[in-house]
Amino acid sequence: MTTITRRTFMLAATAIGALAVAGVAIAEVPKLAQKDTYKVGFAQTESNNPWRIAQTNSMKAEAEKLGYQLVYTDAAGSAAKQVADVNSMIAQGVDVIFLAPREEKPLIPAVMAAKKAGIPVILLDRSVDPSLAKAGEDYLTFIGSNFVEEGKRVAEWLAKNANGKSKIIELEGTTGSSPANDRKKGFDEAIQAAGGFEIVASQTGDFARDKGRQVAEALLQAHPDADIIYAHNDEMAIGAIAALEAAGKVPGKDVLVLSIDGGKEAVQLVVDGKIAAVVECNPRFGPKAFETMQRYAKGETIEPTLVNEDKFYDASNAAAELANAY
Ligand code: AHR
Repeated sequence: MTTITRRTFMLAATAIGALAVAGVAIAEVPKLAQKDTYKVGFAQTESNNPWRIAQTNSMKAEAEKLGYQLVYTDAAGSAAKQVADVNSMIAQGVDVIFLAPREEKPLIPAVMAAKKAGIPVILLDRSVDPSLAKAGEDYLTFIGSNFVEEGKRVAEWLAKNANGKSKIIELEGTTGSSPANDRKKGFDEAIQAAGGFEIVASQTGDFARDKGRQVAEALLQAHPDADIIYAHNDEMAIGAIAALEAAGKVPGKDVLVLSIDGGKEAVQLVVDGKIAAVVECNPRFGPKAFETMQRYAKGETIEPTLVNEDKFYDASNAAAELANAY
């Protein structure tokens, strides 16, 4: 058995310190002390839709319930501002940073800066490029939905319910974000596997209602025979419905509209027959986020990914589920 003496411990600590100074990455997430209360950062991406607002409200409500101080920032849709927000949280000495990274690559410096400052980062809802930063090494864990699965569930619904409709316009989310990448991958692969469908156009609408409307308008002009619109979120689906109606088409009859998020407005549109089906993307992060942080402080090993459960709404359950939608 090896006995760890104070001398061997000091030698090891010096070696680790030297590696850090030399810029060699240390494969360990900073520790979190067990305390009665914490100062916690939450770096939000933007607040331009009901999903983001529901996520923020869930985080704020849980912090308040626990009596923790929450340092909240809103990057207003700018990855550069979000990096600056994280740096400001580091300067303010927060204990933990919850980060919803707007895009996969530009937020890597923020994750690494927090690690270097000894602050554990928990990624919420969106992830970072896995080839550049890893759970359990650079950040603690990723909590959120399985976006690939969300896209796949839309495609599987279509494979059973498209009734001969087949020409798809895909409205993608923010370029370079993990939900846009993964919802596309999950949908495109499953729709190819189903056979009989064609994605006639696929373009970003930046997860925004008006951009979604404008892009849908242009793509409907270029592809007047399109009879399915798959939007990566509710906001773009709602924008696409406006574009369809402006073009004299009836959503739900001439063109099937499908989306992801499952906010109340979209679920109501399913009840109204204008959206055919919606995969929920669960925005209720607060309880799981803070519980994970507490488990880590207690010394528990945290799983690299913690998946949120998402519901599914179509004509069969939307009216009954409307009251439960966020
Ligand atoms: O990352 C989740 C996505 O981001 C939601 O679908 C979208 O509405 C939000 O802005």
